[in-house]
Amino acid sequence: MEIVIRPTPSEVSTTVADIVERYVRRGPATLGLATGSSPLGSYRELARRHRESGLDFTDARAFLLDEYVGLPKSHDQSYFSVIRSEFVDHVNLDPERVLSPNGESPTIAEEGARYDAAIAEAGGVDVQLLGIGTDGHIGFNEPGSALTSRTRVKTLTEQTRLDNARFFDSVDDVPHHVLTQGLGTISEARHLVMIAFGKGKAEAIAAAAEGPLAAFCPASVMQLHPHVTVVIDEAAASKLQ
Ligand code: F6R
Repeated sequence: MEIVIRPTPSEVSTTVADIVERYVRRGPATLGLATGSSPLGSYRELARRHRESGLDFTDARAFLLDEYVGLPKSHDQSYFSVIRSEFVDHVNLDPERVLSPNGESPTIAEEGARYDAAIAEAGGVDVQLLGIGTDGHIGFNEPGSALTSRTRVKTLTEQTRLDNARFFDSVDDVPHHVLTQGLGTISEARHLVMIAFGKGKAEAIAAAAEGPLAAFCPASVMQLHPHVTVVIDEAAASKLQ
């Protein structure tokens, strides 16, 4: 695991954009996209490079990590909509080639296996961007998630619903269930890139990188992966040994 510590959040975003740009320039790239606040600066930087230096996403495709269950795609807080408004609408990545788990599927129990099959059919993910929750979650794999888990329906903890209430009118509007890539699914991406800023993430980063490999810190699954880059600012690095 390579840990890159940058002085500021904006330099973290530049470093992450550099990594993604390398894949996009190399040929048809399959990107694994996360939502949440951590990758936003990187998405903005990639959009700037598209606008100003012609970084070309024509041959790229993308898979999202997760989606709320029961929230229509058209809802402005569905991850389907969020990734479009935050990233896809600002580059020339074909929206038809940006796939997310279908949280409205009438056969939701089978949607996870369908999604994993779609990723496999695309040849797998080349580079997967990840944020981390303060409790060490990645995707919506809360503590206790099996390290080999596949894409499936999960119940959100009350804490995560409260954390995400800021994006909704009230906590009552936050869905209770999500579809999330499993830890095993995420681990199949060829390169994992974790992004974190701020003191609030310092304990989770230390546990993920240096703590025991354990389901109580889902992000510790990265320790088993042969190609991981953790890009963090000094505050998020402050609890590393
Ligand atoms: C988002 C996701 C989550 C977030 C995590 C950190 O698709 O899967 O695991 O990455 O909750 O969120 P932020 O970046 O908002 O601190």
